[in-house]
Amino acid sequence: MIIDTHMHIFDEKYQNPDDVVEEALKNDVKKMIAVGYDKKTSLQAIELANKYEFIYASVGLHPSEVLKEIDENLEWLEKCLNEPKVIAIGEIGLDYYWDKSFKEQQKMFFKKQIEIAKRNNLPIIVHCRDAIQDCFDILKDEKVSGVLHCYSGSYEMAKEFVKRGFYLGIGGVVTFKNANEIKKVVKDIDLSFLLSETDSPYLTPVPFRGKINQPAYTKYVVMEIANIKGVSCEYVCSKIENNVKKLFKI
Ligand code: NI
Repeated sequence: MIIDTHMHIFDEKYQNPDDVVEEALKNDVKKMIAVGYDKKTSLQAIELANKYEFIYASVGLHPSEVLKEIDENLEWLEKCLNEPKVIAIGEIGLDYYWDKSFKEQQKMFFKKQIEIAKRNNLPIIVHCRDAIQDCFDILKDEKVSGVLHCYSGSYEMAKEFVKRGFYLGIGGVVTFKNANEIKKVVKDIDLSFLLSETDSPYLTPVPFRGKINQPAYTKYVVMEIANIKGVSCEYVCSKIENNVKKLFKI
Protein backbone atom coordinates (compact mmCIF):
# COMPACT_ATOMS: atom_id res chain seq x y z
CA MET A 1 0.00 0.00 0.00
CA ILE A 2 1.24 3.46 -0.93
CA ILE A 3 0.21 6.42 1.25
CA ASP A 4 -0.04 10.06 0.23
CA THR A 5 0.20 11.92 3.54
CA HIS A 6 -0.35 15.37 2.05
CA MET A 7 -2.64 16.38 -0.79
CA HIS A 8 -5.12 19.09 -1.75
CA ILE A 9 -7.25 17.43 -4.44
CA PHE A 10 -10.23 19.64 -3.61
CA ASP A 11 -8.27 22.37 -5.45
CA GLU A 12 -10.03 24.01 -8.37
CA LYS A 13 -7.25 22.85 -10.69
CA TYR A 14 -8.99 19.46 -10.74
CA GLN A 15 -12.12 19.08 -12.82
CA ASN A 16 -13.31 16.12 -10.80
CA PRO A 17 -11.69 14.98 -7.52
CA ASP A 18 -13.51 11.64 -7.78
CA ASP A 19 -11.50 10.79 -10.91
CA VAL A 20 -8.31 11.74 -9.10
CA VAL A 21 -9.22 9.38 -6.23
CA GLU A 22 -10.00 6.63 -8.74
CA GLU A 23 -6.61 7.08 -10.41
CA ALA A 24 -4.88 6.99 -7.01
CA LEU A 25 -6.53 3.68 -6.12
CA LYS A 26 -5.48 2.20 -9.48
CA ASN A 27 -1.90 3.11 -8.55
CA ASP A 28 -2.03 1.37 -5.16
CA VAL A 29 -2.47 4.61 -3.17
CA LYS A 30 -4.86 3.23 -0.57
CA LYS A 31 -4.67 5.89 2.12
CA MET A 32 -4.53 9.68 1.78
CA ILE A 33 -4.61 12.76 3.97
CA ALA A 34 -6.44 15.80 2.61
CA VAL A 35 -4.87 18.90 4.13
CA GLY A 36 -6.54 22.27 4.64
CA TYR A 37 -4.75 25.59 5.01
CA ASP A 38 -7.62 28.01 5.69
CA LYS A 39 -11.29 27.79 6.65
CA LYS A 40 -12.54 26.96 3.19
CA THR A 41 -10.01 24.25 2.39
CA SER A 42 -10.21 22.72 5.87
CA LEU A 43 -13.93 22.24 5.31
CA GLN A 44 -13.24 20.80 1.87
CA ALA A 45 -10.76 18.36 3.41
CA ILE A 46 -13.39 17.22 5.94
CA GLU A 47 -15.98 16.85 3.20
CA LEU A 48 -13.66 14.66 1.14
CA ALA A 49 -12.76 12.55 4.18
CA ASN A 50 -16.42 12.02 4.98
CA LYS A 51 -17.01 10.80 1.45
CA TYR A 52 -14.18 8.25 1.29
CA GLU A 53 -13.35 5.82 4.06
CA PHE A 54 -9.61 5.77 3.16
CA ILE A 55 -9.21 9.56 3.10
CA TYR A 56 -8.50 11.46 6.33
CA ALA A 57 -8.55 15.19 7.00
CA SER A 58 -6.16 17.68 8.55
CA VAL A 59 -7.40 21.16 9.43
CA GLY A 60 -5.27 24.23 9.94
CA LEU A 61 -4.61 27.88 9.32
CA HIS A 62 -1.59 28.68 7.17
CA PRO A 63 0.67 31.57 8.28
CA SER A 64 -0.78 33.76 5.52
CA GLU A 65 -4.09 33.68 7.47
CA VAL A 66 -2.47 35.61 10.31
CA LEU A 67 -3.93 38.94 9.22
CA LYS A 68 -7.55 37.77 9.56
CA GLU A 69 -9.81 37.47 12.66
CA ILE A 70 -7.50 35.02 14.30
CA ASP A 71 -9.24 34.55 17.65
CA GLU A 72 -12.52 33.71 16.00
CA ASN A 73 -10.80 31.47 13.46
CA LEU A 74 -8.82 29.57 16.08
CA GLU A 75 -12.00 28.93 18.01
CA TRP A 76 -13.60 27.70 14.80
CA LEU A 77 -10.62 25.46 14.12
CA GLU A 78 -10.88 23.75 17.48
CA LYS A 79 -14.56 23.01 16.88
CA CYS A 80 -13.62 21.22 13.65
CA LEU A 81 -11.78 18.65 15.74
CA ASN A 82 -15.12 17.14 16.70
CA GLU A 83 -15.30 15.75 13.18
CA PRO A 84 -14.34 12.06 13.46
CA LYS A 85 -12.12 11.98 10.36
CA VAL A 86 -9.93 14.89 11.46
CA ILE A 87 -6.61 13.36 12.51
CA ALA A 88 -4.16 16.29 12.55
CA ILE A 89 -3.71 20.05 12.76
CA GLY A 90 -2.12 21.57 9.65
CA GLU A 91 -0.82 22.96 7.60
CA ILE A 92 0.45 25.40 10.14
CA GLY A 93 3.86 26.98 10.45
CA LEU A 94 6.03 29.81 9.23
CA ASP A 95 6.42 31.23 5.74
CA TYR A 96 8.94 34.06 5.36
CA TYR A 97 8.84 33.63 1.59
CA TRP A 98 5.25 34.89 1.71
CA ASP A 99 6.05 37.85 3.96
CA LYS A 100 8.91 38.68 6.29
CA SER A 101 7.23 41.67 7.91
CA PHE A 102 4.92 39.58 10.12
CA LYS A 103 7.46 37.19 11.59
CA GLU A 104 6.41 37.73 15.20
CA GLN A 105 2.71 37.42 14.39
CA GLN A 106 3.38 34.23 12.42
CA LYS A 107 5.26 32.71 15.33
CA MET A 108 2.49 33.55 17.77
CA PHE A 109 -0.14 32.13 15.39
CA PHE A 110 1.89 28.94 14.94
CA LYS A 111 2.31 28.53 18.71
CA LYS A 112 -1.40 28.98 19.32
CA GLN A 113 -2.21 26.17 16.90
CA ILE A 114 0.45 23.95 18.48
CA GLU A 115 -1.36 24.54 21.79
CA ILE A 116 -4.63 23.40 20.20
CA ALA A 117 -2.91 20.26 18.90
CA LYS A 118 -1.46 19.48 22.33
CA ARG A 119 -4.75 20.12 24.08
CA ASN A 120 -6.47 17.68 21.74
CA ASN A 121 -3.64 15.19 21.59
CA LEU A 122 -3.21 15.48 17.81
CA PRO A 123 -0.08 15.60 15.63
CA ILE A 124 0.76 18.66 13.54
CA ILE A 125 1.56 19.03 9.84
CA VAL A 126 4.12 21.79 9.52
CA HIS A 127 4.57 24.12 6.58
CA CYS A 128 7.94 25.82 6.76
CA ARG A 129 9.34 28.01 4.00
CA ASP A 130 12.52 30.06 4.34
CA ALA A 131 12.08 29.78 8.11
CA ILE A 132 13.67 26.50 9.16
CA GLN A 133 15.68 27.90 12.08
CA ASP A 134 12.69 29.68 13.63
CA CYS A 135 10.52 26.59 13.10
CA PHE A 136 13.10 24.50 14.88
CA ASP A 137 13.43 26.98 17.74
CA ILE A 138 9.69 26.78 18.31
CA LEU A 139 9.37 23.01 17.96
CA LYS A 140 12.49 21.84 19.75
CA ASP A 141 11.05 21.95 23.25
CA GLU A 142 7.40 21.32 22.40
CA LYS A 143 5.71 18.16 23.57
CA VAL A 144 3.97 17.64 20.25
CA SER A 145 4.38 15.10 17.46
CA GLY A 146 4.29 15.96 13.79
CA VAL A 147 5.74 16.05 10.31
CA LEU A 148 7.77 18.68 8.50
CA HIS A 149 5.79 18.60 5.29
CA CYS A 150 7.82 18.75 2.08
CA TYR A 151 11.01 18.93 4.04
CA SER A 152 13.52 21.20 2.30
CA GLY A 153 16.04 21.99 5.02
CA SER A 154 19.58 20.73 5.44
CA TYR A 155 20.67 17.26 6.47
CA GLU A 156 22.09 18.69 9.71
CA MET A 157 18.74 20.23 10.60
CA ALA A 158 16.92 17.02 9.60
CA LYS A 159 18.99 15.12 12.17
CA GLU A 160 17.94 17.58 14.88
CA PHE A 161 14.26 17.23 14.01
CA VAL A 162 14.24 13.43 13.98
CA LYS A 163 16.18 13.37 17.23
CA ARG A 164 13.13 15.05 18.72
CA GLY A 165 10.75 12.55 17.14
CA PHE A 166 9.56 14.60 14.18
CA TYR A 167 8.92 12.99 10.82
CA LEU A 168 10.03 14.38 7.46
CA GLY A 169 7.57 14.51 4.55
CA ILE A 170 9.29 13.60 1.28
CA GLY A 171 7.62 14.82 -1.91
CA GLY A 172 8.25 15.14 -5.63
CA VAL A 173 11.27 17.40 -5.18
CA VAL A 174 13.36 14.33 -4.29
CA THR A 175 13.03 13.18 -7.92
CA PHE A 176 14.57 16.39 -9.29
CA LYS A 177 18.06 15.93 -10.62
CA ASN A 178 19.63 18.83 -8.72
CA ALA A 179 17.94 18.11 -5.36
CA ASN A 180 21.20 16.99 -3.75
CA GLU A 181 20.47 18.02 -0.18
CA ILE A 182 17.10 16.29 0.03
CA LYS A 183 18.59 13.19 -1.60
CA LYS A 184 21.22 13.21 1.15
CA VAL A 185 18.48 13.54 3.77
CA VAL A 186 16.70 10.52 2.31
CA LYS A 187 19.90 8.52 2.09
CA ASP A 188 21.13 9.15 5.63
CA ILE A 189 17.99 9.59 7.72
CA ASP A 190 16.42 6.35 8.94
CA LEU A 191 13.27 5.25 7.08
CA SER A 192 11.47 5.21 10.43
CA PHE A 193 11.27 9.00 10.15
CA LEU A 194 10.21 9.45 6.53
CA LEU A 195 6.72 9.87 5.07
CA SER A 196 5.68 9.95 1.41
CA GLU A 197 3.54 12.77 0.09
CA THR A 198 2.67 14.69 -3.09
CA ASP A 199 1.37 18.12 -2.02
CA SER A 200 -0.91 17.77 -5.08
CA PRO A 201 -1.52 19.84 -7.19
CA TYR A 202 2.00 21.20 -6.58
CA LEU A 203 5.57 19.84 -6.78
CA THR A 204 4.95 17.20 -9.44
CA PRO A 205 7.67 14.54 -9.57
CA VAL A 206 9.73 13.51 -12.58
CA PRO A 207 8.59 12.26 -15.15
CA PHE A 208 5.50 14.52 -14.97
CA ARG A 209 7.24 17.67 -13.77
CA GLY A 210 5.39 20.74 -15.05
CA LYS A 211 1.99 18.98 -15.10
CA ILE A 212 -0.62 19.05 -12.33
CA ASN A 213 0.37 16.67 -9.54
CA GLN A 214 -1.93 13.96 -8.14
CA PRO A 215 -1.80 11.32 -5.38
CA ALA A 216 -1.31 8.56 -8.01
CA TYR A 217 2.20 9.97 -8.53
CA THR A 218 3.23 9.15 -4.95
CA LYS A 219 4.75 6.02 -6.46
CA TYR A 220 7.51 8.09 -8.10
CA VAL A 221 8.46 9.45 -4.70
CA VAL A 222 8.47 5.94 -3.22
CA MET A 223 10.55 4.64 -6.15
CA GLU A 224 13.12 7.38 -5.66
CA ILE A 225 13.35 6.74 -1.90
CA ALA A 226 13.82 3.01 -2.60
CA ASN A 227 16.42 3.78 -5.25
CA ILE A 228 18.41 6.11 -3.00
CA LYS A 229 18.32 3.71 -0.06
CA GLY A 230 18.97 0.64 -2.18
CA VAL A 231 15.92 -1.21 -0.88
CA SER A 232 12.68 -2.42 -2.49
CA CYS A 233 9.59 -0.25 -2.96
CA GLU A 234 7.63 -2.79 -0.91
CA TYR A 235 10.00 -2.31 2.00
CA VAL A 236 9.71 1.50 1.77
CA CYS A 237 5.92 1.26 1.66
CA SER A 238 5.67 -1.05 4.64
CA LYS A 239 7.95 1.18 6.72
CA ILE A 240 5.98 4.29 5.78
CA GLU A 241 2.70 2.53 6.54
CA ASN A 242 4.07 1.84 9.99
CA ASN A 243 5.19 5.45 10.45
CA VAL A 244 1.74 6.70 9.43
CA LYS A 245 0.12 4.38 11.95
CA LYS A 246 2.37 5.64 14.70
CA LEU A 247 2.04 9.34 13.95
CA PHE A 248 -1.55 9.71 12.75
CA LYS A 249 -3.10 6.59 14.35
CA ILE A 250 -4.61 5.57 10.99
NI1 NI B 1 0.44 21.60 1.06
